[in-house]
Amino acid sequence: MTENAITLRHLVKKFGDQTVLKDVNLKIQTGKIVGLIGPSGAGKTTIIKSMLGMEKADDGEALVFGEKMPNRQLLSKIGYMAQADALYTDLTGKENLQFFAKMKGISPKKIPAEIERQAKIVDLTAALDKRVSGYSGGMMRRLSLAIALLGQPELLILDEPTVGIDPALRRQVWQELARIGQEDRAVLVTTHVMDEAELTDEVALILDGKIMAFDTPANLKKEYQVKTIEDVFLKAEGEL
Ligand SMILES: Nc1ncnc2c1ncn2[C@@H]1O[C@H](COP(=O)(O)OP(=O)(O)OP(=O)(O)O)[C@@H](O)[C@H]1O
Ligand SMILES: [Mg+2]
Repeated sequence: MTENAITLRHLVKKFGDQTVLKDVNLKIQTGKIVGLIGPSGAGKTTIIKSMLGMEKADDGEALVFGEKMPNRQLLSKIGYMAQADALYTDLTGKENLQFFAKMKGISPKKIPAEIERQAKIVDLTAALDKRVSGYSGGMMRRLSLAIALLGQPELLILDEPTVGIDPALRRQVWQELARIGQEDRAVLVTTHVMDEAELTDEVALILDGKIMAFDTPANLKKEYQVKTIEDVFLKAEGEL
């Protein structure tokens, strides 16, 4: 059954005298992978942080599964991958996963299998016993993604999950996201990679503090009379 995973209503966020989010409205249903795209500094991360309650919105509201955010109980249903990795670098990859699995309330019996499963998806199995301080940038992103996937949450919010991830693994990650969508879970993912935006069910384009367009990649291309999402982006920005 589809339901609204995320509802944003008239979200407004200011930093000092800069109004970053002017009036953001967005509905994301379960079973959908939604790409949030827009130029650097457009407010993608701010939408996510305001929605999760990490930044206090100045106006409007964010609902997750119909409940007003922030809501601690709902956090266990959300897998969040921040744009900046927040990892314990003195611990190994596995220890990080164990820590976050416990935090998420995954039952101790299920933790080893769950770690194995998610580590495999991000191709980190061989590096699990290595300290994170010795990880490359891409390995840290992959570990953060594995942490977000832990416990198979109903809603995934991924802020640039594939930065620093090579093409083969990127494809594997998107296959996993597609599978998650088929399970009737929801994914909100920001990206600057327009080839990835083509793989989503719906694309939300943020410009000037508002969602300027929200539709399937095919409909957006038709509406903007272009052949790629990259060109939709450029045309909306006035660069084409
Ligand atoms: N804590 C903060 N204090 C002041 N300004 C902020 C803060 N966080 C974000 N901003 C500003 O808000 C705007 C939107 O930033 P945000 O990080 O949401 O953009 P973004 O779309 O995620 O960009 P990117 O694609 O580069 O990640 C920027 O102008 C940024 O400078
Ligand atoms: Mg950002």
